[in-house]
Amino acid sequence: MDEYEEDLTERDRAITSARHRGDEIASYWSRLSRAWDPMLRFVGLHRKYRSEAVSVLRLKRGETVLDVACGTGLNFSFLLQRVGPQGRVVAIDIARGMLDKAKERAEREGYRNVELLLGDITQVKIPPVDSAVACWSMISIPNYREALVRIVESLRPGGRISVLDFKVIDGFPGQIFNPVFRAMCRLTHQDASREPWVDLEQMLGAVKMREWRFGGFLSSVYLAWGKKP
Ligand SMILES: C[S@@+](CC[C@H](N)C(=O)[O-])C[C@H]1O[C@@H](n2cnc3c(N)ncnc32)[C@H](O)[C@@H]1O
Repeated sequence: MDEYEEDLTERDRAITSARHRGDEIASYWSRLSRAWDPMLRFVGLHRKYRSEAVSVLRLKRGETVLDVACGTGLNFSFLLQRVGPQGRVVAIDIARGMLDKAKERAEREGYRNVELLLGDITQVKIPPVDSAVACWSMISIPNYREALVRIVESLRPGGRISVLDFKVIDGFPGQIFNPVFRAMCRLTHQDASREPWVDLEQMLGAVKMREWRFGGFLSSVYLAWGKKP
């Protein structure tokens, strides 16, 4: 520990370490930004899951929806189809490379009502929204609990949130597949041990859940959703 670090309080140290982790995550996903869409096209199934994650929000025309860690903007068409031209998508991502791709998509498709915000979801000022969707991101966001708190805070009363992600396979043959899945997650800056639906339940009182066993080939896919009281 150097002289400067000795002067830091525990809180300062936690903030510095979170920033460092944030920088690492941002550069990792920026490097992957060109490969992201082709990779998902190759895997194929993501459209079916996204469509479900958006459908449980029961969005209405004219509403504002938050796309948490939006990546290259693969949710935009699903969201805009529901909120219509009078509605708005607020899309946040920490990786400039991902957000550049999202911007290209919005320009190419003529999406005028998508607002792109660069930054850490736990730091960026999130405007009040009617609903929020988080696809394949809770597994990636380092301090995902803090992120969930901030997202729920940004929801208007009665607003909905849906979280879609990978999870370990419960029961047999999870013992065989889960170690491989966990190792893959570690290699790709992701954490497979998270259970955001538990945090959401504490915050919202009740959460619905659907699971596709083996939906992620080596893992399951889950969708958890709920409503802010
Ligand atoms: C697996 S990608 C998913 C992208 C997109 N949601 C999708 O469905 O295609 C994870 C995304 O989370 C973003 N991310 C990770 N930590 C973040 C944070 N703290 N704040 C905002 N975005 C974050 C990454 O930059 C990356 O774009």
